[in-house]
Order: sequence, then C-alpha cells, then structure tokens
Amino acid sequence: MTTAAVTSRAPSFEALLARPDLAWMGQNTTHLEPPPEVVAALLDSTRRHEFQWYAPALGFEELRELIAADLGLPGRAVMITDGAVGGLHHICTALASGLSRLITTDPGWPWPGRFVALEGVPVTAVGVYSDEAGYRLSAAALAEVIEPRSLLYLIDPLNPLGSSYGRTELEAIVALARAHDAIIVHDCTYRHFADGHTLVAELYPEATLTTYSFSKWLGLAGLRLGAVVGDPALLERLTATPSNPLGANICAQRAAIAGLKVKEPWLRELRATTRRNQRTVAAAVERSGFGRVLVQPSQGNFLAIDISGHGWTADQVCAGLLDQDVFIRSGTYQSPAFGERFVKVSTSVPPAWADRCAAAWATLDPAGPGGPLDQNGAS
Ligand SMILES: Cc1ncc(COP(=O)(O)O)c(C=O)c1O
Repeated sequence: MTTAAVTSRAPSFEALLARPDLAWMGQNTTHLEPPPEVVAALLDSTRRHEFQWYAPALGFEELRELIAADLGLPGRAVMITDGAVGGLHHICTALASGLSRLITTDPGWPWPGRFVALEGVPVTAVGVYSDEAGYRLSAAALAEVIEPRSLLYLIDPLNPLGSSYGRTELEAIVALARAHDAIIVHDCTYRHFADGHTLVAELYPEATLTTYSFSKWLGLAGLRLGAVVGDPALLERLTATPSNPLGANICAQRAAIAGLKVKEPWLRELRATTRRNQRTVAAAVERSGFGRVLVQPSQGNFLAIDISGHGWTADQVCAGLLDQDVFIRSGTYQSPAFGERFVKVSTSVPPAWADRCAAAWATLDPAGPGGPLDQNGAS
C-alpha cells in the first residue's frame, strides 16, 4: 500500500475535528480543562481587542523573562516564535548556508530535516529503534556521522519514542559537537513531562539553541506559540532578521504569561493525569497480547507501541481504533525506516479517553486484522 493511497483514504483533519466525541490521542496535544487563569487572560486580551495590535518582534519582555526563568537559563536571549516549529524553521533557513549536514534520529520529528533539505543541506537520520540503542542517540553512533559544521537536531524527550537523555550521555554528545564546531538544536517541546531533564544549553552554552513550546504542556497548540533560547551572540544570528518581525500571536502571549505564573500546580495535575493514562494504556496493551510499549515510563505525553509481527500495518491499527472513536497516529508519520512497526498514543487527555483507548485496543486481534477477535473489519 503506498503512502499516497493511505493518505487519500485517511479522513481529513476537518472531518476528524467535526467528530465531537473523538478521543484526540494522535498529536501529543493536551485536552484537559486548562488553568482558569489562562482562559481568563485569553478572554481579557480578546475583550480588550488586543488582537488589533502587532506584538513586539521578539515577543513581550515579561514572557521572554518568564521562559528563561522556567528553563533556569537566566541571561540567555529569548525569541518568541509562531510555535516551536516557527523557530525551528527560522533556525534551519537562517543557519543553512554555514552547515555541512543536519543529523537527527529515525524515529524523530521530520520537519527540520525537510527545512534544511530545501536549502540543499544533506540530512542523516541515525536509526535508534532498538533495545540496544536504548531508543535514543548514543555518542558512539553520533561519532560515526558527525562532521565539521554539522547541526545536531536532538529531540529530548524524543517524540515519538518517549526516551530522554541523561547528563552523562549529553556530556559525551557535547564533547563531539564541540570538537566538530557543531551547533546543537535541543528540542525541548516535551521537557515538562519528563521526570528529570538536563539542558544541553548548560553544557554547551556557546553553540546550543533550545526550542520551547506552549503547545503540549500548556495545551495552547492552536494558538501557535513557542520560543528559541540561546546565548545572546548566537541568537543574534536569528534575531537580526526575525522570522516574524510583526510578532507572534498577542493574545496567545497573554495566555502563556498567565500559564507560566501558575505552572507548578498545573504541571503536578498534568503529569499525574498523563502518567495515569500511560499506565492504563500500557496495561491494556500488555493484557491484549498484541503489541509492546517501547519505553516505560515514557518521558513525554505519549506512548510508542510496537505492533510488528502480528500481520497488522500501523495504518490498520489506527483505522481499527478510529472506528471506535479513538484517533492515534501511525509511526509512518515520524519514521521512514521503522514507521510500519509502531503506533503512537498521546496521553495528556481526559482519563475517560484513555479508558476508551484501552478498551478499543482489547478488540484488536493479535492474529491479525480480520481475525476472530476483530469485530471492526479494520483491514
Ligand atoms: C519534537 C517536536 N518539535 C516541535 C513540535 C512543534 O511544536 P509547536 O506546536 O510549538 O510548533 C512538535 C509538535 O508535535 C514536536 O513533536
């Protein structure tokens, strides 16, 4: 089955949005009741018609300071962007002419590789889908591909697998980067879900750009707000010509400021719910005899579930759950080499959705689609 054939049969985004009862567990977005302070800030900004103004080119000063404080990186420069992806696109295009290669992982998040490829920069995606690799990039594997002036795009925690990097591993990676005059882009989109997290920026301040998102931990995906944080001299290379000189969404910035001010209680609740849902789905997978959760506990707000060896394609599994009002994602979106082997389930959602996902998973027949257990004709 070709990708084009699958894409053309998959329901459109709008069609999925029009299903009010759908458990939205495919995009690592957060669907819990937001902090009331965030909603109030958004409504207040809207009532005051702030949307009639542009925002400052690099974002509100208060927001930039709160982000640097949240990361524990005072004194670093912060540029507010249109989602983390806006920052990643800008990094990739602004720095491309000085790069020899982009190095990332497979599985990973494909967009930065595509952005630099448009500028003619070659991309190496190191395969990390194995128990031996620990589902993450090792310094030894990096040593085989790194070259002078590489850009290492390191996602941590790693979407879609849920692994993350310890300080010692990062130190070994940084030593290689330093020796090769490489830039590290540390994509920290899922940092707030991790049990513990080390910033590459602490180890390699002079050549690390940290990307930050409000889509996942604060649940602001549709408002499109993120940031790039870096040493002032390095960030200058990006801010000289900002990607969006008219400023990111002004109402979103008010909401983000409010969210950062109540982050402690919110994160406690968010993490507890996310982990609870991960345990629920993982237990269902275990009981079903179909599939294996790859990294536990996942350090992100998602689980990667290996489904290989049962006659199901990743798309068939997604279709089987969609029939039961549960939207999850095929690995093919994030991995050319391993995508058919796994699906991804997002877990920062209402517990009832996770329960539904668990119940739906139990109907997937380990003997394959169309087997005796499969009531849904998910093939
Ligand atoms: C690894 C990674 N980086 C960046 C993004 C984009 O984040 P944002 O919504 O802030 O643009 C995503 C979204 O899924 C992601 O998974």
